[in-house]
Amino acid sequence: MRTTLSTLAISLFILTSCNSPKQMETDFIQNNIDNIVAQHTLQTDLIEQSGKILNPRTIRKDGSISYVPINDWCSGFFPGNIWLTYELTGDKKWLPLAEKYTEDLDSVKHLKWHHDVGFMIGCSYLNGYRMGGKKEYKDVIIEAAKSLSTRFRPHAGVIQSWDADKGWQGKRGWKCPVIIDNMMNLELLFEATALSGDSTFHNVAVKHADTTLKHQFRNDNSCYHVIDYDPQTGEVRGKQTAQGYAHESIWARGQAWAIYGYTVCYRYTKDKRYLDQAEKIYDLIFKHKNLPQDLVPYWDYDAPNIPNAPRDASAAACTASALYEMSSYLPTKGYKLTADQIMENLSSPAYRAKVGTNGNFILMHSVGSIPHGAEIDVPLNYADYYFIEGLMRKRNLDKK
Ligand code: GLY
Repeated sequence: MRTTLSTLAISLFILTSCNSPKQMETDFIQNNIDNIVAQHTLQTDLIEQSGKILNPRTIRKDGSISYVPINDWCSGFFPGNIWLTYELTGDKKWLPLAEKYTEDLDSVKHLKWHHDVGFMIGCSYLNGYRMGGKKEYKDVIIEAAKSLSTRFRPHAGVIQSWDADKGWQGKRGWKCPVIIDNMMNLELLFEATALSGDSTFHNVAVKHADTTLKHQFRNDNSCYHVIDYDPQTGEVRGKQTAQGYAHESIWARGQAWAIYGYTVCYRYTKDKRYLDQAEKIYDLIFKHKNLPQDLVPYWDYDAPNIPNAPRDASAAACTASALYEMSSYLPTKGYKLTADQIMENLSSPAYRAKVGTNGNFILMHSVGSIPHGAEIDVPLNYADYYFIEGLMRKRNLDKK
């Protein structure tokens, strides 16, 4: 009798002290939301106290926060992070901040000298349109899509990423460089067609995705960073890298942009070739011999000093977010499980910073560009963006 009673007591103890898997998921999400709110409260308090609109991107070597001007390719991520925080918490205190930081980017809608307007306006205005009910943002989104479309080179069938006549890009001998990152700009074009009824933007996006599919991938389904086209004939002039280790190496964030970009293309077109490509990239990444056990890649899968090469948390976060979307189209393939593992690892003390540290960014250990000697093993606002977006997507999927 005594044994039975004590067994019962132990069972009761286990039942009451151990949470169900569902509860553990909820706790995981809440714990991350608490952290995001705490860091963003510190960050926005700093900005508001300055009396200016500051746009944090990363930290400098001395640990101070580095802010960017509005025409920087990363200017949309911080406003996006505040929209996502609003969406995750439902707390209206974030709304005026998200609006203010977003509307500071108004003139970006006219930006025509690089392709990143999709990141910039997508993360800020498009999120405001979707999450903040800001229907008046529609005109900015459409205008930005028009600006991006001016970079479409019809004979080559691509949107030119960088101008080839100035800056460090001007020294490479390119005519029409297209980087895999450009796949991330297509969402803006698809949305602009949905909002305006003008199919031109959608058609440009599809053409760009198809040309990229044809030329940017190797036989093993990894992608090059840069393809240089002849804008008159469409001939491929070169296949190179700018931010990877070598022309033939596998730059980690490039693979993340590709898997995310093709998943988005599938969302708007339902063309199975795009989802197939995303699956092929998944197989490449997650079977790669150099992918660490915690699924956070080295900055390049062929980096020379593995296992001592810096990791890139931004690539992991972007991939996780893409995998949640892929899992909604292919629920039996285990993509959500992989994404959950990445998110769990990124949420561990190995990658998620303590509140009040890390320049008030969420994640540590990303890489901007090692060949340029820039932003090595630092926080990046886009690592945070895709991590928070991933968390939101996870929460939505877990609710089902
Ligand atoms: N779009 C630039 C980068 O991924 O670093």
